[in-house]
Amino acid sequence: MRWLITGAAGMLGRELVRRLAENEEDVAALGHDHLDVTRPWAVRAALAEHRPGIVVNCAAYTAVDDAETDEAAAALLNAEAPRLLAEACAPHGARLVHLSTDYVFPGDARTPYAEDHPTAPRSAYGRTKRDGEQAVLKALPTATVLRTAWLYGRTGRSFVRTMIEREARGGAIDVVADQRGQPTWTGDLADRIMAIGRLPGVHGVLHATNAGSATWYDLAQEVFRLLDADPGRVRPATGAAYRRPAPRPAYSVLGHDRWRGTGLAPLRDWRSALREAFPGLLAPEHPPTRRGAA
Ligand SMILES: NC(=O)c1ccc[n+]([C@@H]2O[C@H](COP(=O)([O-])OP(=O)(O)OC[C@H]3O[C@@H](n4cnc5c(N)ncnc54)[C@H](OP(=O)(O)O)[C@@H]3O)[C@@H](O)[C@H]2O)c1
Repeated sequence: MRWLITGAAGMLGRELVRRLAENEEDVAALGHDHLDVTRPWAVRAALAEHRPGIVVNCAAYTAVDDAETDEAAAALLNAEAPRLLAEACAPHGARLVHLSTDYVFPGDARTPYAEDHPTAPRSAYGRTKRDGEQAVLKALPTATVLRTAWLYGRTGRSFVRTMIEREARGGAIDVVADQRGQPTWTGDLADRIMAIGRLPGVHGVLHATNAGSATWYDLAQEVFRLLDADPGRVRPATGAAYRRPAPRPAYSVLGHDRWRGTGLAPLRDWRSALREAFPGLLAPEHPPTRRGAA
């Protein structure tokens, strides 16, 4: 089976392509330079040329704050392009795995969001990602929509990378301690995407996040510990002190009930994933993607 990866030079795209290649899978890895997913003819031509059994859409507009003033551009990439991909997959019988986000929820829950919990995004980015989920499932009901969150990996900008850089500079750092989510390693996510490729019956919305939950403060402290630095250098701050154009969810932990019914191995606890991701995260940064991390 051939894999076609869009957005193949992004943080998740690179990790997925690397792991597929390591497993000697047949991969067409198409970065932005090779396939602009917003161009209908180019998307159709890519499907016709490569004839993949499965497409994984890692292309996205991930600049959460910029989307507040540029929602049309975000919608083109996050909602219109996934629809084009889904429509192009259908006549070829290709499967589609599409990536989405915890930002489709309002982020004011107290218990984990179920997969079928009503969406109610509070940011422009979240709205465009919610619209993308709906467009994909409407055009291709056999598609798999994976909502993930707080990604970090060996390439690309992420909170974890920022903390590694901040630790190296010395001194103390204030980190938000009243926003809770699920740090998720691109390595674990890529492995599960490969597993989904081997399990044809996995359809619909699934939550693909590492288990457990953390605040940004917890995550920063854990990074410092793994660097053998004093976690006391990380000081708790409130989100209100760091106002940003797009609202950030206070609680956006995703539940895994549907995942448990699929036969896929559960994703492990975030701390264990972060431990394994080190020291790969300390490798020199590849050229950053144009857009920042979501
Ligand atoms: N990062 C997170 O914390 C996070 C959290 C939740 C969900 N997600 C979702 O997970 C997925 C992967 O995220 P990521 O962090 O790997 O994103 P990323 O590093 O920003 O990668 C996105 C890629 O899409 C490419 N791209 C932009 N416009 C394109 C176009 N018109 N055609 C083709 N490719 C285009 C970008 O290339 P250029 O840079 O060259 O434009 C970039 O390589 C996304 O769906 C995102 O919404 C991410």
